[in-house]
Amino acid sequence: MIHEHLHQALEILDLSHMNAVYDHHAEEASKGSISYLEFLDKLLWAEIEAKRERAARTNLKLAKLPYVKTLDQFDFEFQPSANARRIQELKQLGFVARAENVIFLGPPGVGKTHLAVGLAVEAIRNGHTAYFLSAHELITMIKETIASGRIHRKIKALCKPSILIIDEVGYAAMDEETSHYFFQIISNRYEKGSVILTSNKSYGEWGDVFGNNVVATAILDRLLHHSTTINIKGDSYRVKEKKKAGFYDVSKFESVSTD
Ligand SMILES: Nc1ncnc2c1ncn2[C@@H]1O[C@H](COP(=O)(O)OP(=O)(O)OP(=O)(O)O)[C@@H](O)[C@H]1O
Ligand SMILES: [Mg+2]
Repeated sequence: MIHEHLHQALEILDLSHMNAVYDHHAEEASKGSISYLEFLDKLLWAEIEAKRERAARTNLKLAKLPYVKTLDQFDFEFQPSANARRIQELKQLGFVARAENVIFLGPPGVGKTHLAVGLAVEAIRNGHTAYFLSAHELITMIKETIASGRIHRKIKALCKPSILIIDEVGYAAMDEETSHYFFQIISNRYEKGSVILTSNKSYGEWGDVFGNNVVATAILDRLLHHSTTINIKGDSYRVKEKKKAGFYDVSKFESVSTD
């Protein structure tokens, strides 16, 4: 009777995971293999872990990552300048707690997006939130929200996630108005939330990216104050994979489709 009554209570309280493991642990407790305190502890933690997992799954969807890849899937032997030791430190997520930034610089295919995504996945697994967008998407979003009068609300929303990932800064140049709002986003997150940014352009070239040296300097000033820069110099992993598959011949680069 008491078991039925307890199951009912757990159902009413919507503690479905406690409910699922209750019988098993109740039996252990009645046999004396775990104490009543351990029994309660196991039940409570079953519920907490299940809730955390569910929240992480939701947060992973909300992050809008272009793909899900982990840091463990990254081959540091292929790309030594990606600095395995630094990445291992970042994986501890102190940078998220301290609202510090991480910037990945390097040419195409060296793993910038993979590492940014990997850090975000790790953070989400540990209860943080993230939001990913390419600089191109951000530029479009800025322009659209200026036009519809929602730009300030949007900037506020981009301040919410623990990590904001801005991918591919530098592929598209920005006009002055867009750069101004880009600056606003970085400025609003400064010392409040982490930014992970990837770029194919060295910092010296950011004046061209933002169409204005003064704005670029102000952005860099805030971005770099508390930050780690990983400067990746190496071969493209995409090219390595094509070579391995036998599709890639540099001498025929112009005429061979490598896709
Ligand atoms: N060292 C690596 N180990 C395993 N996979 C890698 C490595 N480097 C890159 N990759 C894979 O190669 C592909 C290209 O990497 P990624 O997208 O991170 O490049 P990128 O530096 O962001 O390039 P781009 O500037 O063109 O966006 C991805 O599928 C990624 O998972
Ligand atoms: Mg990329």
